[in-house]
Order: sequence, then C-alpha cells, then structure tokens
Amino acid sequence: MAATTTTTTRAAPDSLSGRFKGSFAYFTMKDRTPQILTRVIDTLHRHKNEFFEEHGEKGIEAEKKAISFLSKLRNELITDKPVIPLMDNLADADIWNRYLEYQKSLLEENSGQPSWFQSPWLYVECYLYRRIHEALIQSPPICDFDVFKEGKVQSFFESQQAIIALCTHLQEVSKIIEDLDEEQLKEEFFKLLQVSLWGNKCDLSISSGESNSQKCSPLSSLRDLNSFILVNDMECVWSLLLNSKKTRLEKVTSTRVDIVLDNAGFELVSDFVLADFLLSSKLATEIHFHGKSIPWFVSDTTKHDFNWSIKQLQGANHRWMSRCGINWEGYMKKGTWVYHDHMFWTLPHEYCNMSQVASELYAELQKSNLIIFKGDLNYRKLTGDRKWEFTVSFHQALNKFHPAPLCSIRTLKADVQVGLQPGQGEQLMISDPEWMTTGKYGIIQFDGMP
Ligand code: F6P
Ligand code: MG
Repeated sequence: MAATTTTTTRAAPDSLSGRFKGSFAYFTMKDRTPQILTRVIDTLHRHKNEFFEEHGEKGIEAEKKAISFLSKLRNELITDKPVIPLMDNLADADIWNRYLEYQKSLLEENSGQPSWFQSPWLYVECYLYRRIHEALIQSPPICDFDVFKEGKVQSFFESQQAIIALCTHLQEVSKIIEDLDEEQLKEEFFKLLQVSLWGNKCDLSISSGESNSQKCSPLSSLRDLNSFILVNDMECVWSLLLNSKKTRLEKVTSTRVDIVLDNAGFELVSDFVLADFLLSSKLATEIHFHGKSIPWFVSDTTKHDFNWSIKQLQGANHRWMSRCGINWEGYMKKGTWVYHDHMFWTLPHEYCNMSQVASELYAELQKSNLIIFKGDLNYRKLTGDRKWEFTVSFHQALNKFHPAPLCSIRTLKADVQVGLQPGQGEQLMISDPEWMTTGKYGIIQFDGMP
C-alpha cells in the first residue's frame, strides 16, 4: 500500500462540510457524533468489571486511560479544534498523517489549520472513528475491545424474526431453483436485491447508536417500497450477470461478484442471502466479501462480526436459520465465499484515489465481474461526497473509478445524490424536504462503462 496522498484534479463541486451551517454534515458533527462518543465512553465504563476480571488492575487503568483519550477527543470535536496527527504506530498512521498534510495544503494562506467543522465531512467523520480506535490501541491490554460490538449483537438479535423469514424463504427457493425459468429467476433476484437494499436502513450510525433493526418480514413490504427507489438499475445488473452466465456455460469460466459490505446485523444477513442465491442460481461462481479491519461507523462489519454471524445462524434453534449458517460456513471452507479486509476501506479517501493509494486492492477488484457497494458511506466515497447537481451522471461523479462494472445499493442518509431525472430532486425537495437523510429512499445505481 502506497503511503501517498492524493489530489482531486478536476473541476468538481465543493465537498460536503460542517462549515455549511444548517447542513446535514453540520448537524452530524454538532449533535450526532458527540452523542456517539458519549455512548462509547459509557460502554467502556459499563465494561469496567469485565476488564478487571480479565486483566486485574491493569484492565481498570486501561479503561480510565481510554476514557480520558476519548473525553479529550470529544472536547476537540465540540470546540472545533484543529485536526491533529495520529500518534499510534499502526500501519495506516502514516497515510492518515499525510492526508492531514494534504488537507492543510488545500487551505488558503492564513486560513489556519484544518479543523473538525472546517474540513470535508467525509474526512473528519472517518477520522473520528480512526481516533476512537487509536484511543483503544493506546490503552493496552484492552486494545482489541470493540466498543460497538454490543450494539451490533443487539441489533442482530432484535432482527430475529426478519432473519427467520428470510432464511426460510431462501431455503424454499433453493429447493426449486433448478425448475425456475429465466423470468422467475429474475423476479427472485430482484426481490433479494431489494431486501439487501432496504436492509441498509438498519445502521446504527444514523440512529447515533440507538437500536435500529428490522422488525417485520422484509419480503412482504417490497411492493410498497418500490416507489421509494429513486434510481433503479436492477435490469442492467441482471443483464450483466445473465450474459456472464450464458457465456460461462459455453466457455467454462467463472463469474466473480464482490460485495463491499456495510452494516452487521440484519443487513449482513440480507447480503449473505443474496450471495447464496447468486451461487445457487449459477449467476455467480464465487463471492468475495470485503469488510472493515477496525470497528467503523458504529455498525460496520468486521471479520469478527462476519464469522460471529455465520456461527450464530449455524447454532440457531431454527431449522432454516441453522441450515443457512451450515451452508455458508461450507462456502467459506470451499473457497466459493472469500472474506477480505483491507485498510483502504477505513481510510478517508474517495474511491477515485484507490488505484494510487491501494493499487493492490484496485488490482484485486479488477478481477471481479461485478462489484456491489453496500450502504451510504460507500456511496459518499464513490462520489467524493460532493455537492453534485442531482442530474450529473453517476459515471461522471465516479471520476474514473472503474475497476469493474459496479453497482451501489444504498438508502439515502447523506445529502449527496447523482443520476436523477431532471426535476426529480427538486420535486422531492418540495414533497419531502428530508428525503436525502432519513433512509426512507433508496437507489440501485449501476455503472458499467470503463
Ligand atoms: O449521517 C449518517 C451517517 O453517519 C453517514 O455519515 C454515513 O454515510 C452513514 O450514516 C452510514 O451509513 P451506512 O451504514 O449506510 O454507510
Ligand atoms: Mg455502516
């Protein structure tokens, strides 16, 4: 991984930023992120006894130390202090510190240091989660404690009924999959793509860590939700996979789908179900999942969450849930499912810089036939988190990022959106002024052009 910083050399609009008072970025930095930090501090406090039982007095000292780092961080944030370099020696610290230098270089002379509210929102929000990680890393022996684990576990259990409904549905489909004709396969594919889309409502960052899970069956409400999909490129994704399947059957090659994961809990299960269907329908022959290497944006999937979820399903007291868990563990063992994590996913860079900053990851993604990017933060990084006009094409906003055909599946939780029809965004502004930030609307947006 190159320790370079990057530049965005194009006439692109401004980055979203907390400096725009009244914007969602401002509101996030002012209210939501301090709230998240307070919760993190509280979580550490509540686990004091556990640290003591595991590590004795050293555990208690570590808890105090981490809390003091986090309180300082909270204070820096709410008083809009300058962003400071990372002090830990983790492999990515240098890249972060160079990125800070790059941010400084963008400022006009005499306009001070990059600070929490004056900097691009994408940068400082990512930096916040990296600083939380730093606080833990600098507090041995509790360095590996995932401050967000509790919330992720809770949201998994609160979604039990929805998970059962989905696993049962998958088993029913799998039994008859060989008998389905092309039209029926397509219908099923569309269903599971949409379940995976609406699964993205369940993230714990938008709710500032408050419980946010899927309570009812995700399948029964799809028809009602259809009109909330603002860009729907499901047909393009289907054509790509179907063509690849047809040529493969003639030539005996493989079809690889990559899923850049987002949240653990119900959303992750919905992604597993989609991945399972892609294999059993032979639309794909291998699935590569990409998760986070550190706790991230409250509910994002780490390797631990990934394995834990499969184990939970396996051991569940429900026939179809456990069947899913067993099958999925089998795919992992066979290598038809592969889990990757790369530090690039927890850096602040927009994806058009990936080929420079993480060329090996870019090369890995180039092996894919289709990359699915789950969630809002991935969309922000794909489009550079900028104030694009709504009608700018997705392709333009990607700014030459194109390792392979790609599709973004996200519910809108940040005020960036491209690829809309003329007048569509303006109409939504009138009918539902909060349309960009509540997770009520979604997109399945494809770019197949090199
Ligand atoms: O403001 C909502 C937010 O914290 C955004 O910063 C971020 O894009 C999003 O939540 C995370 O959502 P997701 O889990 O879909 O990436
Ligand atoms: Mg997330």
